[in-house]
Amino acid sequence: MNNGNAPSSANTELMGLPCQPGDELRPPPCAMVIFGASGDLVRRKLIPALYKLSRCGLLPEGFFVAGASRTSMSDDAFRNDMEAALKKTDGFDAQSWAEFARAVFYRQVDYADPSTYAGLKAVLDEEGRARGMNGNRIFYLATPPSAYSIIGRNAAASGLPSSGWSRLIVEKPFGSGLKSARELNAQLYRDYKEEQIYRIDHYLGKETVQNILMLRFANAIFEPVWNRRYVDHVQITASETLGIEKRAGYYEQAGVLRDMFQNHMLQVLALAAMEPPSVYESELVRDERVKVLRAMRPFNPDDLREHLVIGQYGEGAISGSYVPGYRQEEGASAQSPTPTFAAMKLHIDNWRWQGVPFYLRSGKRMKTRFTQVTIQFKGVPHSLFRRALPGEPGPNALILRMQPDERVQLKFHTKSPGGRVCLRDVVMDFPYTEGYGGVSLDAYERLLLDCMTGDKMLFVRNDGMEISWSFLGPALELIGSRDARSPKLYIYTAGTYGPPEAETLIQKDGRDWLDYGNDNG
Ligand code: BG6
Repeated sequence: MNNGNAPSSANTELMGLPCQPGDELRPPPCAMVIFGASGDLVRRKLIPALYKLSRCGLLPEGFFVAGASRTSMSDDAFRNDMEAALKKTDGFDAQSWAEFARAVFYRQVDYADPSTYAGLKAVLDEEGRARGMNGNRIFYLATPPSAYSIIGRNAAASGLPSSGWSRLIVEKPFGSGLKSARELNAQLYRDYKEEQIYRIDHYLGKETVQNILMLRFANAIFEPVWNRRYVDHVQITASETLGIEKRAGYYEQAGVLRDMFQNHMLQVLALAAMEPPSVYESELVRDERVKVLRAMRPFNPDDLREHLVIGQYGEGAISGSYVPGYRQEEGASAQSPTPTFAAMKLHIDNWRWQGVPFYLRSGKRMKTRFTQVTIQFKGVPHSLFRRALPGEPGPNALILRMQPDERVQLKFHTKSPGGRVCLRDVVMDFPYTEGYGGVSLDAYERLLLDCMTGDKMLFVRNDGMEISWSFLGPALELIGSRDARSPKLYIYTAGTYGPPEAETLIQKDGRDWLDYGNDNG
């Protein structure tokens, strides 16, 4: 997966890595620029991730990071700001921060004005030379999307890419539809090749999302039943208790389909449904993910309502505390038509999955926070306990829970102890980190490291991104129109699992959502 120098033995011990000596290597020298450095993502995710990698000894020798944004700030002011943010996270320690802070810089840049990139170039050149970075640079675009193109252009025009390699990490949303995504690509391709562009989807960096592939393809017992012969249907749920926080400006334009489905939900679906690649290598794994997306059956606008339910949270209560409705959120329109919930039924037209429905559901301000994939198997072909039991034994299910408690669960039936013939549902439960004493990496830590080593497996390729937009495009258009075929927007009470119509979507097929808490047997 990697290239570069071998890790010190201290890392190995701390991280529980490598699995085998020599497996996991430290990235080659490189520096990182984060555009949008005064923004929230930098404080919440990016600097904490780099700091943790530094503490684990996983950053390249001599690594440094330069923040850049429109705000005028000194290096020290930026460092103080980052220190304050880090103190709110676990694992802050003054000594390691003092060490890491020496590798943190800041330069003010007006994105649209190439002449203002000179200070940034100077720090990259000087520090890069002093620290032996070989001109290798990563540019992280953590700005509003409207600035991606101009930053890409002006960074190139100002000579920020240097003698070594340059990589561009682009945050979502990558466009707001197929047309704008293609335009953005075309703009970036003027100065960067596809190999240099890392489209980040943080769900792909989550440990348990990656584990889907390990579970499926490192075990012989799952694959034989992972298909239309044995699987009744698949459910993917990403249920959040949070609302839109302070992001109405973005969310009003995005809505749940662009925010969660175009990227995270479809990428998880691709991992759950893909064919095994011949080798665990970036492009081969990405090829297989893309093939699944390509096989998704397009929605028919005439019966979209049969396949898609959308909702928006009204006021309600989460864990007993009152929360306002979406339209009362700061910055949201009082008549906003933006969906914060969607439930979708889709089909994958290929040999493995023909006839197996995939039900996807994601929403904000739901009852509990959980993300999981459920593989629901078919029932037994012949119920020989029919006479002895009041009803049919329910189907088996394999549950891959990604958050908040990462685990794999298998639901099956056993005989109840005692003299009578009586079945009970039980759950075989594997908490994901059980038996692992090392430190694990969160999504951003993993993905930053992968970008440094040049591993694109967990990043979204251009073709996959375009296919997801084309799949959702007709639905997005219909929702944005006044067309009578458009799905109706249902208001649901905050603190529930979305509108009752989402239950109907699956119940009319004789099935039920498996919610967090009702699947423990
Ligand atoms: C982000 C979305 O990409 O993912 C957010 O923009 C959402 O709206 C978040 O809350 C969910 O991520 P996680 O890791 O908390 O499940």
